[in-house]
Amino acid sequence: MFSLIAAIGKNRELGSRGQLLFHIKEDLQFFKTTTMHHKIVMGRKTWDSLPGKLPGRTNIVVSRYPVEGADLSISDLPAFIAEYATSDEEIFVIGGGTIYTEFLPHAKHLYLTEIATTAPDADTFFPSFDRSQFSRQIIQKGKENDLDFIISKYTKK
Ligand SMILES: NC(=O)c1ccc[n+]([C@@H]2O[C@H](COP(=O)([O-])OP(=O)(O)OC[C@H]3O[C@@H](n4cnc5c(N)ncnc54)[C@H](OP(=O)(O)O)[C@@H]3O)[C@@H](O)[C@H]2O)c1
Repeated sequence: MFSLIAAIGKNRELGSRGQLLFHIKEDLQFFKTTTMHHKIVMGRKTWDSLPGKLPGRTNIVVSRYPVEGADLSISDLPAFIAEYATSDEEIFVIGGGTIYTEFLPHAKHLYLTEIATTAPDADTFFPSFDRSQFSRQIIQKGKENDLDFIISKYTKK
């Protein structure tokens, strides 16, 4: 099964010029503990934005070309989705915008940190989704650097 995990602004903003927009410590900690020891899947651009492999997790990178340094690089996305969509193993899709869009129709859970602010310089967005198709469990509410945020787990009904 696939779980998408993302931090988004009010307009579903994700990133700008290849980098993250939000740096909320509690969110980064939530991301770390939630994804630890799991397989994580990311697009090549998100991979390029990282300093290296995220430790303790199997780093899978989607690209049309082989990706050096990744634990696994995948060019055949439909085959990967077919292999894991119905598996009991929870695989975390960690971005970015292109990859979230491709995995959203196959997602069982969305772990979303929704931040109550906008980012006018954003150039990458989380896809819109039909909230009526998901149930919502609020995991954590907080405020950091004047930014209110809510971390929720959405589950496909
Ligand atoms: N806020 C958050 O939670 C969050 C999380 C993650 C990322 N981000 C941000 O999102 C932005 C990056 O997102 P993005 O949409 O620009 O890029 P991305 O989704 O990270 O990567 C796109 C790349 O993935 C590969 N790819 C995608 N679909 C493919 C397919 N079907 N087959 C083969 N390869 C495929 C291609 O790589 P090749 O060109 O190598 O073929 C494509 O250029 C950054 O700003 C990042 O900081 C935010």
